[in-house]
Amino acid sequence: MILWGLQTQRIGLFGIDSLIPLATSILTLAAMILVMVYLDWQLALIALLVSPLMFVLTFVFRPRIRAGWRRFRASESAAMAVAQESLGASRLVKSYGQEERKNEQLVSHYNDSLTAQLKVQVDVAFYSLLVGVVTAAGLAAVLYIGIGHVQAGILSLGSLLVVNYYVTQLYGPLRNVGQSILDIQMSMTGIERYHVVLDEKPDVPESPNALPLVRAKGKIAFQKVSFEYTKDHDVLHDVSFELPSGSRLGVVGPTGSGKTTLSTLLLRLFDPTEGVITLDDIDLKDYKLADLRNQYAVVHQETVLFSTTVAENIRFSKPNATMVEVIAASKASKAHDFITNLPNGYDTLVGERGMKLSGGERQRISLARAFLKNAPILVLDEPTSSLDIHTESAILDTIQELMKGRTTLMIAHRPSTLRDCNMILVLDDGRVSQMTTEVESVISGMNAVGVQS
Ligand SMILES: Nc1ncnc2c1ncn2[C@@H]1O[C@H](COP(=O)(O)OP(=O)(O)OP(=O)(O)O)[C@@H](O)[C@H]1O
Ligand SMILES: [Mg+2]
Repeated sequence: MILWGLQTQRIGLFGIDSLIPLATSILTLAAMILVMVYLDWQLALIALLVSPLMFVLTFVFRPRIRAGWRRFRASESAAMAVAQESLGASRLVKSYGQEERKNEQLVSHYNDSLTAQLKVQVDVAFYSLLVGVVTAAGLAAVLYIGIGHVQAGILSLGSLLVVNYYVTQLYGPLRNVGQSILDIQMSMTGIERYHVVLDEKPDVPESPNALPLVRAKGKIAFQKVSFEYTKDHDVLHDVSFELPSGSRLGVVGPTGSGKTTLSTLLLRLFDPTEGVITLDDIDLKDYKLADLRNQYAVVHQETVLFSTTVAENIRFSKPNATMVEVIAASKASKAHDFITNLPNGYDTLVGERGMKLSGGERQRISLARAFLKNAPILVLDEPTSSLDIHTESAILDTIQELMKGRTTLMIAHRPSTLRDCNMILVLDDGRVSQMTTEVESVISGMNAVGVQS
């Protein structure tokens, strides 16, 4: 919201910067024309013949220049996007040896943007040159005919000097009008791009009289939920199940069966295409979005760490947490010991995207975040699948602690991960193929067919 305010202010200033000189120029122009018509209407007419020419020039050049700025801004954003992407996924880029390719992409986008900028600057220079030639020709014509009028005795020399002075003054504002129009073109393309970004609809709207939610009990129900990312391509189909508060649901199913999608619907990152999801018997759509999201702690397969201190990384889930709380959460997630062994303990800077920590350590930081947030609902998306069996079993002990008293949705590939769940939902191609409390039988079934990945 603040950002939006700043942006509109900047756009506003952009507009005013160009509009005030435009208005002043137009007023000055009108006054001078009146005086000239009074002194010698023929000269005034010749002087003014220049203005239609100027308008033709502006009319021809304006769309060209505007399109040029548009191309420049588009290629500039494309270059920024590649730069941001490469920095954000530097490890991935490096591990696939893609630095060269990304560099080439970046250079090519910057070349495009440079070429676009050059082209538009050439157009602007050419336009200014033509405006200069037209005004010089106008001035010469006025002088030539004016001298004739002086010789014929129609005009006094003094009046010619005044007209001459006015014509030079007149062409100044005319040129300013042209310049202002060019400047406006440039800021307009800027505004256009802001609108492209700002007008993107939020994925999920908040209802105007949304309900506040302090702490949910954690009863969840999916009622005939279907979902599609793109039209006519159901990812989830007619999914229904109920989770009493405090239950621990394991979600299993082949890759692509919609497990992660199911969890994003619960977080209301998207709304179901059909059906309803309720929390404590109220539709998710009826809650205030920020309050709703505050009910979840989420642990993913890959922990995202920011390049700041370990303490700040843990505090991510509760920015105003005290150091005592951070340490308590780290102890609960068994991260405290390795953190205190780091060179600067909790103040150690995590390397670029957390590369200095092992997979298990990163996952413990992620669990510390979840403990710190102390949310009533826990969503775990294959939290241990990137760890070796030994680390996994240690982490699972911690997760078991974390699950206590919270409704949990645990997405898993390996049967071992499901040992602490008390219900299992099997998804197959977006449909519920089994929903059972017989956890043991599902696990042994998975072991038998070797679903292990
Ligand atoms: N943002 C998206 N836009 C379009 N389609 C998507 C998107 N995310 C997922 N899908 C598609 O939805 C289907 C289900 O994906 P989902 O990530 O939920 O599967 P999953 O069960 O979590 O798989 P995995 O076990 O591999 O994590 C897949 O076919 C996938 O291609
Ligand atoms: Mg997934």
